[in-house]
Amino acid sequence: MKIVVIGGTGLIGSKTVAILRQGGREVVAASPKSGVDTITGEGLKEVMAGAQVVINLANSPSFEDKAVLEFFETSGRNLLAAEAATGVQHHVALSIVGIDRTDNGYFRAKAAQEKLIETSGIPYTIIRSTQFLEFLGGIAASSADGNKVRLPPVLFQPIAADDVAAIVAEVALAAPRSGIVEIAGPERTPFNKIVARYLKAVGDPREVVSDPKARYFDGRVEERSLVPLGEARLGRIAFDEWLGRSQAGA
Ligand SMILES: NC(=O)c1ccc[n+]([C@@H]2O[C@H](COP(=O)([O-])OP(=O)(O)OC[C@H]3O[C@@H](n4cnc5c(N)ncnc54)[C@H](OP(=O)(O)O)[C@@H]3O)[C@@H](O)[C@H]2O)c1
Repeated sequence: MKIVVIGGTGLIGSKTVAILRQGGREVVAASPKSGVDTITGEGLKEVMAGAQVVINLANSPSFEDKAVLEFFETSGRNLLAAEAATGVQHHVALSIVGIDRTDNGYFRAKAAQEKLIETSGIPYTIIRSTQFLEFLGGIAASSADGNKVRLPPVLFQPIAADDVAAIVAEVALAAPRSGIVEIAGPERTPFNKIVARYLKAVGDPREVVSDPKARYFDGRVEERSLVPLGEARLGRIAFDEWLGRSQAGA
């Protein structure tokens, strides 16, 4: 079985490629660095020749509202057209829990990506994940206000990238669901508390303030906006274990 991982050099992509290769499968890590570009279309049909499964783990270089929407729409169209032309049998994509319940530019772009997949006619599985633990630093940076980090008092259930990659690899080897699977971390905690624990652990002196008016990447969020509402597959790596592993450089 040949599997193409678009964005195969990224955080989740590189881990997914490593897991799938352990099984002795033919796995191609595709990205602009290896001459495959979903925006220009360069290298797409060539890399997909003979592939049964395509996993899309690419991310936009810019998170600005218009740029990110353009990235996910253009790459989605180019990718799905190349998959249709080469007879790919399963498209797997990584999306985000709650994109249909919260309005921010990045979530709108991911919703547009999902819509293209759902209407493409190609058998698919969309995995909606909660935020990665590896993204906590980025969240703190985006919510910083001088020496304070202002976060809304909502529930948060982040998942380790290793857990995400393991589930993505498993889903890619199973039959397409032509539907959505939700995944999340093993612990559900208030947003401000987990970010405060993270900042303390990495020696960041900024104070985390719970602020009901604070926005999440410019979008309004409520108590359960960012966590799965129904059944979700849970990762195994809890915050403390993840922290230990990342501080040990694992
Ligand atoms: N962050 C979160 O908490 C979170 C939560 C749920 C879902 N997600 C989703 O998870 C996915 C993977 O995120 P990540 O953090 O692993 O990404 P990442 O580390 O930023 O990696 C991005 C990847 O996209 C590739 N890429 C960029 N432009 C491309 C193009 N034009 N054509 C093909 N590939 C391109 C990059 O290739 P080069 O190395 O060649 O530049 C790289 O391999 C994203 O779709 C994101 O929306 C994220």
